[in-house]
Amino acid sequence: MKSYLRAITEEDPYKLCFVCLGNICRSPTAEGIFIHKVKESGLESFFYIDSAGTAAYHVGEGANSKSQATANKHGIHLPSRARKFEYADLEEFDLILAMDRENFSNIHDLDRRDRFAHKIKLMRDFDPIPEDGSVPDPYYGGLQGFENVFQILNRSTEALLDELRPHIEK
Ligand code: 4NP
Repeated sequence: MKSYLRAITEEDPYKLCFVCLGNICRSPTAEGIFIHKVKESGLESFFYIDSAGTAAYHVGEGANSKSQATANKHGIHLPSRARKFEYADLEEFDLILAMDRENFSNIHDLDRRDRFAHKIKLMRDFDPIPEDGSVPDPYYGGLQGFENVFQILNRSTEALLDELRPHIEK
């Protein structure tokens, strides 16, 4: 069985891509939080961290203003520029984290020969409180929804980093 886990070294950093629909709310938040956690732990040279969207509506845009305001309130910067997830990303990344089941299914649809299923996961597979398994789309709602997304992603990315940590070879 292939696994998304492998030895992580500075010579061969572990590559993660967080994926949602528009790449302006959920996946940029996950990316920004994960970058922050990795830096806080002094592990930035062991990771390559990116995000993308399954749709192209917002390509080139920075993170949504409510996502940014929420992250900033928690001391976190969101550096993303929206881009569309593409086939080459399936080859490039070690772990692809879908924010909801629709994103998960759209990513799988690109993997026609079923070569990469082992590296496509739901973000909330790592959440200690996974609820229905999806990070809810906050785009059409108020600030409370963005805070909820932040809390879910803060928990999930913490657990993800804890799972990867033992594979880091210094
Ligand atoms: P995201 O949120 O997938 O978390 O970036 C959305 C952003 C934009 C749209 C939907 C969801 N939209 O329909 O434009």
